[in-house]
Amino acid sequence: MLHKPLGLLAELTHRCPLGCPYCSNPLTLDAREDELDTATWLRVFREAAELGVLQLHLSGGEPATRRDLVDLAAGAHAAGLYTNLITSAVGITEETLGALAESGLDHVQISVQDSDAASADRIAGYAGAFARKRALAAAVVRHNLLLTVNAVVHRANIDRIGEMVDLALALGASRIEIAHVQYYGWALKNRAALMPSRAQVERAATALAELRSRHHGRIVIDAVIPDYYARYPKPCVGGWGRRSLNVTPGGKVLPCHAAESLTGLEFWNVRQHSLADIWANSPAFNAFRGTAWMKEPCASCPRRELDFGGCRCQAFALTGDAAATDPVCQLAPDHARVAELAAVQTDAPYVYRRMASRHRADLDGDGMA
Ligand code: SF4
Ligand code: FES
Repeated sequence: MLHKPLGLLAELTHRCPLGCPYCSNPLTLDAREDELDTATWLRVFREAAELGVLQLHLSGGEPATRRDLVDLAAGAHAAGLYTNLITSAVGITEETLGALAESGLDHVQISVQDSDAASADRIAGYAGAFARKRALAAAVVRHNLLLTVNAVVHRANIDRIGEMVDLALALGASRIEIAHVQYYGWALKNRAALMPSRAQVERAATALAELRSRHHGRIVIDAVIPDYYARYPKPCVGGWGRRSLNVTPGGKVLPCHAAESLTGLEFWNVRQHSLADIWANSPAFNAFRGTAWMKEPCASCPRRELDFGGCRCQAFALTGDAAATDPVCQLAPDHARVAELAAVQTDAPYVYRRMASRHRADLDGDGMA
């Protein structure tokens, strides 16, 4: 049975001012001149709504580097989509935010690298980023937009989950998403420098239970346990080709944001195909849909409709076989490899994700603070 997608992540651009060591953009970035134009994005939003999509996430890179961001948000609203802006907060002025609120934007999600300003700026690789995030969060609340704080945790900040929840409350957020770094793409270069110890993960789990009970009714705390210390994998993206789709800056449609890390998949582009055609018929979406592609132990496992065999991108990154059982699973033939990799930890400096210089020049456009 073909499910309807509920969410669409629109990666408006790969341009970004920050240099996060766990950047989830692909290793090869789309150039500014290859980005979809305004009219094509607006068509994609209309097609998404017709396909059944309810939630649109305007993401990047940093979406505010697009000068047509307000027009895009207005078009999404006109298409009837609930629209969330995912921003680093660097490069978005209060004037732009006000125009976005007027255009019908529903929600803003701001990433926060840490509760401590110096540490946050060090992780982001951008001096002053933390102060800008605080300022934008205050503006979001002033404009009566709903705010979610997104905190990506790893060995440098996982011991400050409580402080990050306090920060989210102080900023006026109604929700905080605490997600561990996912190890594919750029994050693989920094895996040992990002990997927490088992003791850190256990302390974080205890802290989370206490925080949820203490702040019940004040803020929603969503948190995901680090994969490498879990017994079973997560149902990545809610199952391949089942709940969501991503459109890259250049118009390729992917079943998950890291799908381009899988070699041999054929992705169709919104420049040549409608979103409905891509969702139903593109080879990439059908490659790991359902359960027929699974090998043992997944093929006969009672959990196969719960976690869908885990994450295809992680399976490929760790085994070279995108159809393998996610090695995070304790039943996977390659499970021992996960414990070996998790044991490699270091406090070495990060390899930051830096855009090419032409992209950095592009960041000095309108709408930048
Ligand atoms: Fe999930 Fe496959 Fe592990 Fe079963 S064997 S729990 S389906 S990953
Ligand atoms: Fe691609 Fe999990 S990130 S399937």
